[in-house]
Amino acid sequence: MGAKHTVRFEPVGIEIEADEDETVLNAAFRQGVMLMHGCKEGQCSACKSFLLDGDIDMERYSTFALADYELEEGYVLLCRSHAYSDLSVELINYDEEMLRSGVPIQVVQTRVETIETLTRDLRRLVLALEDPPEMAFNPGQYVDITIPGTTKTRSFSMANTPSTDDHLEFVIRVYPDGHFSGLLEGRLQPGDPLKVTGPYGVFTLRDHPDRDLLFVGGGAGMAPILCLLRSMAESGSQRRATYYYGARARRDLCYLEEMEALARRLPEFRFVAALSDPVVGEEWDGEVGMITDVVERGEASLHTADAYLLWQRPQVRQERRKTPACPSRCSPTPKLELWSSRARRAVCTTTTSRGG
Ligand SMILES: Cc1cc2nc3c(=O)[nH]c(=O)nc-3n(C[C@H](O)[C@H](O)[C@H](O)COP(=O)(O)OP(=O)(O)OC[C@H]3O[C@@H](n4cnc5c(N)ncnc54)[C@H](O)[C@@H]3O)c2cc1C
Ligand code: FES
Repeated sequence: MGAKHTVRFEPVGIEIEADEDETVLNAAFRQGVMLMHGCKEGQCSACKSFLLDGDIDMERYSTFALADYELEEGYVLLCRSHAYSDLSVELINYDEEMLRSGVPIQVVQTRVETIETLTRDLRRLVLALEDPPEMAFNPGQYVDITIPGTTKTRSFSMANTPSTDDHLEFVIRVYPDGHFSGLLEGRLQPGDPLKVTGPYGVFTLRDHPDRDLLFVGGGAGMAPILCLLRSMAESGSQRRATYYYGARARRDLCYLEEMEALARRLPEFRFVAALSDPVVGEEWDGEVGMITDVVERGEASLHTADAYLLWQRPQVRQERRKTPACPSRCSPTPKLELWSSRARRAVCTTTTSRGG
């Protein structure tokens, strides 16, 4: 352990203690302060902040995340910064409601309980927690799973709610050559150990009972939204909520029965599935088209909504034309960008690879 220093965040006045050996972001997580973040490895700029006072040293980062001129002006990436004196840091991208709602980070030893095929490329992974035997988290958060035999991690959102905190359930898209997801194709077996670190993330429900909820996602983006909907059902939420889910064909849809069950428990909930590439002759009387177009047709106004927008990289690439900066710095499609600027509040994220 190195020397310890006090880091004060402005304008919110929160203070934490940071060891020289840890990044300021990790120190904040350790103490339950959920700062805005994305990749946690200097690639995305979500944690960019302004150093008002003090000495820091930064680990390697991408100049896409922090340009040289920004560094000269005093901007820093908190996921790369180590404190070498007491610091005063101005947060430029924060959600005051979320800052103090964080749960301290835990390292948990788990064992694989179930690996189940949901669709041709989605798997349901359930981990039983062993040491410690439970883990606190907020609905919508994610953990980092360490790839066995390496120090590398991959992030996955919980689909289960904290009420079942002795196991973690994930919906994972399999990439055959994926370092972690590829293991789900027969190489990882029930009983195998996995190390999990978390929880992280700010994709959580804000307490605004008067606002409608709009969830948009596809593929494995189902996981955190399923968690949010399940937790709304547990608490008897009366909020008007619509979940737009995009898939290519009928066979790529999953959790349909659960969506029906949720609609029975949540009186104001609607699930809208849309197929972008239905198989000819396939029975389907639902929406057809890109999910972004289907939302545009279905939602006249977003001004009273909190929007939760979540997409995986291929769809983002497909739709990306000109991408202005998103308030949550996730660089989604222009249409998702438009909705996030129209909605009362938008929480956006892309489940992109962190590489490595
Ligand atoms: C906050 C966060 C939450 C996430 N939650 C989930 C989740 O709930 N479920 C889930 O399935 N994933 C989720 N991801 C993505 C996940 O962390 C991994 O990046 C993904 O599973 C690929 O890891 P891998 O080791 O299998 O593939 P890698 O070994 O990293 O990559 C293998 C190959 O697949 C390609 N690839 C990797 N990721 C993607 C991608 N997203 N789109 C297209 N091509 C890709 C790579 O370019 C490479 O060619 C999340 C990511 C983040 C940052
Ligand atoms: S979280 Fe710091 S650059 Fe992505």
